[in-house]
Amino acid sequence: MTTSIAIEVHDLSKRYGSGKGRSVLALDHVTLAIPSATIFGLLGPNGAGKTTLIKVLTGISDITAGTARVAGFDVQTESLQERARVGWVAAEVILDDDFSVWENLWLQAKLQDLRGWEERAAQLLKYFSLSDVRDEKTNHLSTGMRKKLEIALALLHQPEVIFMDEPTIGLDVGTRRMLWDIVTGVRKEFGVTILLTTHYIEEADILCDRVAIIDEGRIVAEGSPAELKARVHADLVELELSDGVDAAALRSIPGVQEVKSIGAGWQIRVASSEEFLPRLFAAIPTDHVRKISVEKPSLETVFLDLTGKRIGAEEPMGDIRKFYAQIRRARG
Ligand SMILES: Nc1ncnc2c1ncn2[C@@H]1O[C@H](COP(=O)(O)OP(=O)(O)OP(=O)(O)O)[C@@H](O)[C@H]1O
Ligand SMILES: [Mg+2]
Repeated sequence: MTTSIAIEVHDLSKRYGSGKGRSVLALDHVTLAIPSATIFGLLGPNGAGKTTLIKVLTGISDITAGTARVAGFDVQTESLQERARVGWVAAEVILDDDFSVWENLWLQAKLQDLRGWEERAAQLLKYFSLSDVRDEKTNHLSTGMRKKLEIALALLHQPEVIFMDEPTIGLDVGTRRMLWDIVTGVRKEFGVTILLTTHYIEEADILCDRVAIIDEGRIVAEGSPAELKARVHADLVELELSDGVDAAALRSIPGVQEVKSIGAGWQIRVASSEEFLPRLFAAIPTDHVRKISVEKPSLETVFLDLTGKRIGAEEPMGDIRKFYAQIRRARG
């Protein structure tokens, strides 16, 4: 069954732990309607509730309150039908390294009790250019190939919706871009709806048709990247000066909307940085400027505007540690 809305979440809340002990409200009244055949990004910082939403939508976690339908089926009352129509690419590595590429496909078919899967599997290997490594053990594959195989496994039973939890976490920039092309290609070739989570601003912006920004379990904004960025009618200028200057002096420059003191400097919201900078340099001796940076509207500034925090995506060391921890967990 195809519906024009592939994923429909209504007033959904998820609480871990009981009311008495320590409990966490991981999802707080989430409502979303995701049209079919979109690439939908759930963007948010660590602990925002992204993985929890995927777990709830794939039936791994139960729902505390509210409803969710995927591919036309209620995840709570029609879970068998629903699960038959969804595929899942986990954040952690799920391949069995002792198995060949083909044996991993065989295992997936067994787990899902699929019949006549061989033809589909061969087509998928061809589509992902993996036919030549069909009999290789998966630990001989490159990271990019392993990711492609994981997506092939998720597509084996011809799902309508695919969930991808942090599909590019820990990958180098080149492999990440290759993955973006693959995700776009998969949507086109197989007509699936893809819900992916990410904390990379650029990934949400470039790859996704629509994005929901999530923070502390709440959806704080939703729309196309262009719509979301259009909400921020301002550039952000961060300024560090060697000599004291008071906020009032900065505020008096025409076009300044807001001045905040941050660390050793100032964060200034301006209508247009192109107009502001010449005025700033006219008002302040240039050799007093130690550091200056300009940030044009981005999904990061949308998040900053809405929550007062940064998503803090570019922490390569943190990512790599998390990535290896996930691998260890998946293997151990
Ligand atoms: N099984 C669990 N039991 C208790 N609390 C949990 C459990 N899983 C997640 N949480 C908590 O729920 C909140 C949301 O976690 P979740 O893993 O969904 O976030 P996330 O957005 O995926 O974060 P990350 O970017 O780190 O993957 C966090 O506060 C987390 O500590
Ligand atoms: Mg997560």
